[in-house]
Amino acid sequence: MGTHLKHIHQSKSLREIFSPSQKLVLEISECDTTFCYRLKDIEGQVIIATSHLSLYDTEKNLVPVDVAYEIAESSFDETWEQPWGEQRYVRNNYSELSIQAKGFTIRFRLFDESLGFRYELHTQEELTIHREDTEFNVSAGSFAWWIPALGQNHYEHQYIRTSLPEIDTAHTPLTIERAEGGYIAIHEAALYEYGAMNIVPTEQGLVSRITPLQDGNAAKVPAGFNTPWRTIIVSETAVGLGLSKVMLNLNEPSKIPDDSWIQPAKFMGIWWAMFIGYYTWSSGPNHGATTANAIRYINEAKKLGISGLLIEGWNETWDGDWTKNGEKMNHMQPYPDFDIHTITSYAKAQGIDIVGHHETSGNISHYEYELPEAYDYYRLFDVRYIKTGYVAPRMNTGDFHSSQVGVRHYQKTVQLAAERKIMLDIHEPVKGTGIERTWPNLMTREGVMGQEYEGGAIQPEHTTVLPFTRLLAGPLDYTPGLFNLSGTNRKVSTTLSKQLAFYVTMYSPLQMVADLPEHYDGHPAFAFIAAVPLNWDVTIPIDGVIGDYFVTARKDRQSDAWYVGGVSDEQSRTVTFQLDFLEEHKTYDAVIYKDAADSHWQAKPEAYEIERRKVSHHDSLTIRMAESGGFAVQIVPVGENAYPYPD
Ligand code: NOJ
Ligand code: CA
Repeated sequence: MGTHLKHIHQSKSLREIFSPSQKLVLEISECDTTFCYRLKDIEGQVIIATSHLSLYDTEKNLVPVDVAYEIAESSFDETWEQPWGEQRYVRNNYSELSIQAKGFTIRFRLFDESLGFRYELHTQEELTIHREDTEFNVSAGSFAWWIPALGQNHYEHQYIRTSLPEIDTAHTPLTIERAEGGYIAIHEAALYEYGAMNIVPTEQGLVSRITPLQDGNAAKVPAGFNTPWRTIIVSETAVGLGLSKVMLNLNEPSKIPDDSWIQPAKFMGIWWAMFIGYYTWSSGPNHGATTANAIRYINEAKKLGISGLLIEGWNETWDGDWTKNGEKMNHMQPYPDFDIHTITSYAKAQGIDIVGHHETSGNISHYEYELPEAYDYYRLFDVRYIKTGYVAPRMNTGDFHSSQVGVRHYQKTVQLAAERKIMLDIHEPVKGTGIERTWPNLMTREGVMGQEYEGGAIQPEHTTVLPFTRLLAGPLDYTPGLFNLSGTNRKVSTTLSKQLAFYVTMYSPLQMVADLPEHYDGHPAFAFIAAVPLNWDVTIPIDGVIGDYFVTARKDRQSDAWYVGGVSDEQSRTVTFQLDFLEEHKTYDAVIYKDAADSHWQAKPEAYEIERRKVSHHDSLTIRMAESGGFAVQIVPVGENAYPYPD
């Protein structure tokens, strides 16, 4: 606290509130010319030291203390149901405190495991917000896992662990190993009409920095604007971070009353074949998106029991440097060798959903000009899923993807898609902030260094960091499922069992099955991918160390089956875990897909074993993961097995 006193000249405590079960304590004060907050645990240990809250228009603090204000308190408790997700029911239980003045409200919601707060402006007119200084004064000596913001590659980086002063400008979720022990994750919820919040270090800790517009301001906001919620998850354990549903709870309930059309799905792709050089996106002798290839993939998907097929490079305008073709991209003009009518009607007859594809190359002006016709066009052919992409360092307007301009654009696509019953998977998106609660047709996003970077750029550790960082921002399209790990020009950084584990360790209601059909045909381990659910009743994180390993269990929403996934970094390790999440007095068949004794991501990535045994609530499993290995377990009550098992 010593360093703090230097910075806060005058501090007057105003009020303290407790979280519903008295786990966290929030203290509000007047300090200097603005308001401050402090977050403690029930023993009085400080988690976030006194931190200023201010928001500036071009000249002044919009939330000053030298005005008349009142403090109100209330509480809330409700349980709501998700159409899809890592758990079916979500409890939204908090103590609320608000500082209410004529011009603004600062609203705090204190949950047992987290804090959320936002600024609400009672302005009558549009307003320019120049800067937001929301401090998060985490103690010196803490370490952060972060990726750089405001660069060229959006969220497509490996996370690094540094001390706080070594952070440059970090994206959120920003996960912190506290000097005192325990963890916090700083993020935001309900990002609309505003730039994304990034984090930079200060002498006292951390402060927000909003992705700027080109004029350097944070945002130009409408009258009566509420900022996104700033959120802090607090957990004793690293795996506990993922249990918080604060991000979803701070979003509005669904605006899609009839969501029966919103359906999780797995999809293959005419996609990876482009990365390994078999096909091209552009026209020519190796064009991937041809009628013949599409029919072949549809047949394969049907045979494998995968209900979707993504097809990229189907529309004219991929020739030349397509990353710079955004201006010309035409999402209503198939290449002559791609007979969209034949393909989509054949797919329909086979019960396969075509996952459409719109690469914008970041040209949001052109894409918005094409919309909504480009969605209607796909709808003519009954295409209900679309993957969009914004591969460019900046939008064509010169703006950051994570700026207010980008945020508005993505939101527009989500709402236009919702009106047309289209489900979206966004590549090069703005990070997730839980708006899928309100718009559950926004099913997933890439927004990560995903498997397209395989072939050298991804270290084995990467996927042992994501569950503690990127996945706190919601569903992730990591494009898992590669089985051919060293047979192409892209050497993959995992074993085969680790690829299976991804379906459990990284949640997405749309999961890719990324490899070529011929690599799955007749492969016994494919049974796991065919069976693994996309929608869960509950998720129970079991164990993990950020950057070393992660193990989690999930229960299927449609049956009493459980699935467990585990991933390891470059080291091999053995984990033991209790199966006490299983129901008592029931016997289950477990099918364990794991690394073989000689599996190794470099030398022998494709070696694996399948072991079957009967298990119950009282048992534990001990499983060895190879170097960059993993495991996947399916646990089905005896007699209730409705899933395909390997022979
Ligand atoms: C870049 C994306 O990263 C990749 O996944 C996609 O296939 C291409 N753009 C084409 O849209
Ligand atoms: Ca490690």
